[in-house]
Amino acid sequence: MLPFKPHIQSIKPYEPGKPIKELQREYGIRHVIKLASNENPLGPSGKAISAMRKAIREVHLYPEGSCYYLLDRLAKELDIDPGHILFGNGSNEIIELLARGFLSEGDEVISSEMTFLVYPILSQVCGAKFKAVPMKDHRYDLEGILRAITPRTKLIFIANPNNPTGTYVTAAEVEEFLSKVPEHVVVCFDEAYVDFVDAEDFPKMLEYVKSGKPNLVVLRTFSKAYGLAGLRIGYGLASKEMIQYFHKIRQPFNVNSVAQAAVVAALDDTFFLWRTKWLVVRGRKFFYRKLKKLGLEYLPSQSNFILIRMKTDGYEVYQYLLRQGMIVRPMNAYQLPDWIRVTIGRRSQNVQLIRLLKGYLEKKT
Ligand SMILES: Cc1ncc(COP(=O)(O)O)c(C=O)c1O
Repeated sequence: MLPFKPHIQSIKPYEPGKPIKELQREYGIRHVIKLASNENPLGPSGKAISAMRKAIREVHLYPEGSCYYLLDRLAKELDIDPGHILFGNGSNEIIELLARGFLSEGDEVISSEMTFLVYPILSQVCGAKFKAVPMKDHRYDLEGILRAITPRTKLIFIANPNNPTGTYVTAAEVEEFLSKVPEHVVVCFDEAYVDFVDAEDFPKMLEYVKSGKPNLVVLRTFSKAYGLAGLRIGYGLASKEMIQYFHKIRQPFNVNSVAQAAVVAALDDTFFLWRTKWLVVRGRKFFYRKLKKLGLEYLPSQSNFILIRMKTDGYEVYQYLLRQGMIVRPMNAYQLPDWIRVTIGRRSQNVQLIRLLKGYLEKKT
């Protein structure tokens, strides 16, 4: 008998969105649209592609373990001391470092229900108890989270904006919340979707990091707005003491050389970022208008995706769309069985999705 750990054996693995090639193989469909994993429909920036082509010639060499040039470039971009930044193999790796660095068996982690599934999984890997506080109007209930804190609480995860709801907590709410969290608890604000935010009352987490708040970690990623999900690169911002702690437990070459080169170039491509954000903000409005017309409920989103209530089994809608060559995300794993989550795509992709949803609804009636 292998020495499997019971708390790991009971984990349900994370189920990613269905890959395009898998659907093509299974259904024999040539033209597939994927609006399931909140990827950038524009692809990567041209500048990043050129930098990757160059970097590929040197993949026989180990990458710079310190991400020297990238660190310097991002620190300038954010106007922050490089000592506050840690790069990871996707921001997922930083979530893992938080779990490995701070959790032992019997500890508690608090977050919300209907949030990023990696938080409970990695908490469970470390033998910690994950407490999912109920949402209020599909938003994180920060007061509820405060009430759930005990002496065993080590970590709090707040996805802002949240995946899969697209909702957010405001600057005033965060200010009050942070003033009440005890210092023995590490608070992680996961800002994977921050580049798509246009709400004026969204909190400025960078300022808290710059002011030296000791128990705060802010996560960001190049997987979404920067269109580099396949390279696996994101970063954490925290106090210098916390970053030094993570350096002790990260892998020596956790960020590959092609990713480092691509991000240095992508940070210079401000036009690409602007186009991406414009596409998403316009796409959100398009969906709101069309979904209202179809009589479907949705949650206004600050992200590059929208949660839509289908009034019927969301998994059935997901399967119907698959057969038409459209991949969206069913929400069963998030206890939202009658909802689907759709990533905002290019205009033509959005139009096609609305057309298919209309066809589905007409068939049902
Ligand atoms: C809330 C949230 N955090 C983190 C991630 C992970 O991003 P990365 O690709 O940087 O690991 C995702 C990806 O879906 C996400 O939705």
